[in-house]
This record gives sequence, structure tokens and C-alpha cells, in this order.
Amino acid sequence: MQKVRKAVIPAAGLGTRFLPATKAMAKEMLPIVDKPTIQFIIEEAIDSGIEEILIVTGRSKRSIEDHFDSNFELEQNLEEKEKWSLLKLVESTTKIKLHFIRQSYPKGLGDAVLHAKSFVGNEPFIVLLGDDMMKDEVPLTKQLMDRHDKTGLSVLATMRVPDKDTSKYGIVDPAAKLEDGLYEVNQFVEKPKAEEAPSNLAIIGRYLLNPEIFEMLEKQAPGARNEVQLTDAIEQLNKTQKVLAHELKGTRYDVGDKFGFMTTSIEYGLEHPEVKDDLKNYLIQLSKELRTQE
Ligand code: UTP
Repeated sequence: MQKVRKAVIPAAGLGTRFLPATKAMAKEMLPIVDKPTIQFIIEEAIDSGIEEILIVTGRSKRSIEDHFDSNFELEQNLEEKEKWSLLKLVESTTKIKLHFIRQSYPKGLGDAVLHAKSFVGNEPFIVLLGDDMMKDEVPLTKQLMDRHDKTGLSVLATMRVPDKDTSKYGIVDPAAKLEDGLYEVNQFVEKPKAEEAPSNLAIIGRYLLNPEIFEMLEKQAPGARNEVQLTDAIEQLNKTQKVLAHELKGTRYDVGDKFGFMTTSIEYGLEHPEVKDDLKNYLIQLSKELRTQE
């Protein structure tokens, strides 16, 4: 069985939900407390044993490349001031083997993944979306890699969502349950209303794909929003080789959405050694004040 070694992070979207912040800045560089969201995603990949990462970038995304490059002036300055722990933090982002490719027009997630074809070659690979941060005992990417090691099949990450939210996601129509948290799939249904949804198992931002997905993407006509949809190509792939759904039991943070971004910042802040005590006291005080206003 071919091991999964490569990851693709599509980061060429326009980030319209965060305008005006994202007019000239990559949404992937927005920090949760003090770390850009894309760094969390890359750390998940590395902690899972991924060796090479391709980031698909677009306009206004130079800061991503700069973030993972060395910054000689800053490093020298921190060294002179003997700020060793900060120096270590700054240098930690340069130790990763990263590749970049530009998607000139944001023609959809499927098109962004197609840009990874020559980087990926004939190997299985994982796609990680920066909009979703995950927390679990074993990183979600590693969970999918373990599933792939055993089956050789493409595996999508999914999680249970409230019935009222099915219209926000690609939803899995599960066929056989193979084992706890692993399903064969009849079909993938894009954003169904609650009453039409075949389940409440929603696709989230990690896709472990076999390289045959590129044949499907090359043939795929634009779908919803006139964009090439990755889910449509996966639906085609599922007709020629099984695509499995793996259910995440841990936590997903939706940082592609304003409210999700704010709650994630609070939750991570409550674990951050520098700010957790002050933040907790502030929240307690604030909730008291809000209650008196009710
Ligand atoms: P989204 O549609 O959720 O992200 O795409 P977006 O376009 O950046 O943000 P909004 O919705 O306008 O606020 C999901 C992922 O696919 C990438 C995005 O960068 C995001 O990580 N993507 C999307 C591309 O790389 N290229 C595209 O053409 C479209």
C-alpha cells in the first residue's frame, strides 16, 4: 500500500466573509491568539507524518510565503536581545518543506486541487482546508491516513451536524457501516435542506484522495456558483472506486466564518499560558454585566 506523504492546502479563495480584512491580506494569516490559522493546519499535517506540502495561493497571499520563510533581520534582532524563546518560535516556521503554486483565477476548490496534479503525481494525498481547525487525541489527518493504510481507498472526514445545518454542507448518504465511525457511501448530496438530507453526516475540511481524482477533476464542468466543485469530482470517483466517510469524534472549529473565528479565539485564548487567566476573569466579569442587562 502506498503511504500518504503529500498534502495540499488550497488557499486561493477570496475570503469574502472576512472583508474588508481580506482585501489585501490572506484570510489564512488571520491569527487565533498569536498564530496564523494556516500554521495550525500545517502543524496538523506535520504531526501526522506528512513530508511535503503544497500551498495553492492566489492574489494577496504573499504573506503566507513570507511567514514560512526566514526573516533574517528579525532573527538577528531577537538574537541580539537574547529573546531565545521568541527566536525559537520565529525559526520554527522555516523548518517545513513547502511548495507554492498560484491559482490565477479562483475557479473553485476543485480547480485549486487540480493545480496540485504534478506535485502529487501518482500518489494518494491529503487536502486540508484552512477554514477548519480540528482538535482530537490523534490529529484528524493521521486518522484518515490510518484508514487509508488499511483500505487503500479515498477517505473523507465527516462529522455529525445539527439537522437544521445540513444545508450548509456536503452531506453523505451512507451505505454500509464498515466499522465504528467508517462508512461506505451511496452518494454525496450538496447542501440539502434538513427534510431532504439523507443523514446529518457532513463533509468537513480534510479529504484523503487517491490520484484518480485528477482524471475526474479534469472532466468536471463547473457546478454550483459556476465553480469547479471538489465534491462533484468525488461523487464521480465514488462511481469507479469506493470513497469512504470517516467520522470525526473530536472537535472542529469553523474559522472560515466570523462567529466561529471569534469563539475559536476565545477557546484557544483560555488555553494560552500568557492570557488565559486574564481572559477568564474578563469573561466572568463580562457575563455578569451581560446578565444584569437582560
Ligand atoms: P471557501 O469558498 O470556503 O473560501 O473555499 P473562500 O472563497 O476563501 O472564502 P469566502 O467563502 O469567500 O469567505 C474553501 C477553501 O477552498 C479554497 C479557499 O481558499 C478555502 O480554503 N479555494 C476556494 C481555493 O483555493 N480556490 C478557489 O477557487 C476557491
